[in-house]
Amino acid sequence: MYVDKPARVRAQVTAPGLRAMKARGERIVALTAYDYSFACLVEAAGVDFVLVGDSLGMVVQGRPTTLPVTVDDMVYHCAAVARGLQRALLVADLPFLSDVDAATAVRNGGRLLAEGGARMVKIEGAGHRLAAIEAMVGHGIPVCAHLGLTPQSVHALGGYRTQGRDEAAARAILEQAHAVERAGASALVLECVPDALAATISAELAIPTIGIGSGPGCDGQVLVSYDMLGITPGPRPSFSHDFLADGGSIAAAIKAYADAVRAGSFPPARDPA
Ligand code: KIV
Repeated sequence: MYVDKPARVRAQVTAPGLRAMKARGERIVALTAYDYSFACLVEAAGVDFVLVGDSLGMVVQGRPTTLPVTVDDMVYHCAAVARGLQRALLVADLPFLSDVDAATAVRNGGRLLAEGGARMVKIEGAGHRLAAIEAMVGHGIPVCAHLGLTPQSVHALGGYRTQGRDEAAARAILEQAHAVERAGASALVLECVPDALAATISAELAIPTIGIGSGPGCDGQVLVSYDMLGITPGPRPSFSHDFLADGGSIAAAIKAYADAVRAGSFPPARDPA
């Protein structure tokens, strides 16, 4: 039997809830997490969307790309993060080649929900992934799409660089964005696309866009937590910001990030590329 929850329990962020946030004009705060203790901090800071990204291959495992990350790796980290969350929506990446066809994507997406405790999965690209998105949604697996710079295709793209700079490429990304929405995606991560393109996509889609390196015109923002805390060795991506360097504790840095995204002060507007 279903009973009402006590009033003091804040409602969980859900897949349909993300769309409602966009409709209300509420900016979505997203951040990556890879373990239980950090998940407790992001939960306490009120982050809406917690991504167990396959970026863990680079920042946790020290690999040169995200390609070696396995579904087992994702399930392991996802289950750890799930233990620290109550309200936040837990989203897990489908790693490289875990989505080679629709049936494989359903099986692996299903593992991330059933074994990892995720409540949404993220899939990079469009093309043949549209069938995978439709199949997962058809099996009750909420999906976040990911377009622009898709790190699993780093070798095909020739490096980690902004996508959609010329008119034809921008049009292709806009078309892909409409296609993933039609296929049933509940949200769309836009990584490293020009600010104007991200703003156009955000205005045209009903589902929320979550930007990273795509300017302030998206409906939400995501950062790799190790970048925004200055943990990642080497140079930080230019669009990121070290919120810990501004002073205080890790908890205060996450709160400052969440406040800046909600206030619209992060990320700042950039000159057109
Ligand atoms: O893997 C990841 O952390 C991601 C974000 C960069 C969006 O996909």
